[in-house]
Amino acid sequence: MGAPLTLPELESLQATMNHALDAVRDEIKRNKLPELSNYATEPHPLDNPAFVCPSRLYEARRLALATIGQLKSLLQQPYEKVVEQSCAVYDTAALDIFVKTGVIDRLADHSTPPEGLHVQELQKQFDLDAVKLAVILRYLASQGWLHETREGVFALTRPALELRKGNNGRKWILTPGKPKVAQSLLTQITHPEWKYSRQPDQTAFQLANDTPLTLFAWMKQRPDELTQWASSVQSLGDAYHSAIINDFPWRRWDGRTFIDCGGGQGNLSISLSEILPTSFFVVQDLPEVMPIAQANIERRAPAAAHEGRIAHEPVNFFEVQPRVGENHVYLLRYILHDWPDHACIAILKNITRVAPPSARFVIIEVISKPNTTSASDRHLEETVTLDDLVSVPHHVALTPPAYIPANFGVTAKMSLALGVHMMGVFNALERSMREWKTLLGKAGLRVVHVHTLRGMVSAIECEPVAAHAHVGHVGHIVGGKESH
Ligand SMILES: C[S@@+](CC[C@H](N)C(=O)[O-])C[C@H]1O[C@@H](n2cnc3c(N)ncnc32)[C@H](O)[C@@H]1O
Repeated sequence: MGAPLTLPELESLQATMNHALDAVRDEIKRNKLPELSNYATEPHPLDNPAFVCPSRLYEARRLALATIGQLKSLLQQPYEKVVEQSCAVYDTAALDIFVKTGVIDRLADHSTPPEGLHVQELQKQFDLDAVKLAVILRYLASQGWLHETREGVFALTRPALELRKGNNGRKWILTPGKPKVAQSLLTQITHPEWKYSRQPDQTAFQLANDTPLTLFAWMKQRPDELTQWASSVQSLGDAYHSAIINDFPWRRWDGRTFIDCGGGQGNLSISLSEILPTSFFVVQDLPEVMPIAQANIERRAPAAAHEGRIAHEPVNFFEVQPRVGENHVYLLRYILHDWPDHACIAILKNITRVAPPSARFVIIEVISKPNTTSASDRHLEETVTLDDLVSVPHHVALTPPAYIPANFGVTAKMSLALGVHMMGVFNALERSMREWKTLLGKAGLRVVHVHTLRGMVSAIECEPVAAHAHVGHVGHIVGGKESH
């Protein structure tokens, strides 16, 4: 039995909504930020991933969005919810059309008048049927990407600015593959031989692409796909840049050596090198990623690259970690969510088996929370409210009030969607804290502290339980596949 119902749902959600929106408005004023507007032609400071969002504003916005999600479920006709959600594939298709036809770029062009362009104008320019374009653009307008200033005339909204060339949203959307994986997901989870598999080469990805290869082996043969994929990973890293830099106490470790395991293009090391001027960084990844990493490091951190403060080297994390020394810090960002448990344990043991007790590990990943919802307000002593967050120096997470899920409902959709994708591509998952603790314990690590960040991810700081005491049997891992 859950907690007794103490508050009527609609009344409670309305009160929460008012409280959250009052706090958003108060914080905008307090921090002298511009008013929020969907009609703005420039991004708002809150849209910039480098902006350090005040804790209360961050949590008030999260609470407002979670409440909107709960209210929508409460009020929407269930049949309409079914149809709307089953048609969500057209969200992806319409966004794809918007970007890949170039219509977004035409509407973003400085020569476009503020009221936007008529679909007939777009037909002339792109040789695309105005009637069909209107169907797509009006659908996008209903999702908040466009506003229809007059019938058939469309202009970009503020969120759509993220889809302009060079922006992270654009990089993400141009990386293909998800619809194909989604189509094969049902076959994966009902597959007679694979349904209980935890192998990264027995997933929807292999079914969809008719290949026996894992994603990484498959991309090795397709350098263009690898470069595009790396840019989408970079966009995901950028999205939480300021949270990672500001909400984790990195500066106490200046002077140490950081090993960025599976560091990709090296963006985390590059960002850290800017705030840790006497530290040394080694970006490790697969050999085929080295040219991309080198070019990126030289472009984004020329001085550090020149001084040799950021090195890069090919290292397969399924082999023993070659970089070992006192006080080394091993960074693993968005690595373990790509792998099933046995592979994660192998990756970590390849470090813990050689690292001294002074080594530290920082695992930057989603910590998945359950969707549990309480119908009563929490006990006072456990509760953090928006009022407690006024001008706090360090970020503290809000306690969800009545009828708001522990994971803040719809605000967790992005991380849960990525979890579905990880399952469909690698037989992996986004893990809960309980799952993280079990997995890290099996790899010989103890959690020292979990740092809550103002973003989708958290930073789990760990230390080796006891040097060299946890080697044990790790199985033999070939490209993440366990064989005995
Ligand atoms: C999701 S990306 C994360 C990149 C980077 N840590 C970041 O946060 O931007 C995963 C990375 O793991 C790398 N990787 C995959 N298999 C690997 C292996 N066996 N050894 C080393 N790196 C590997 C990929 O090439 C990729 O760069």
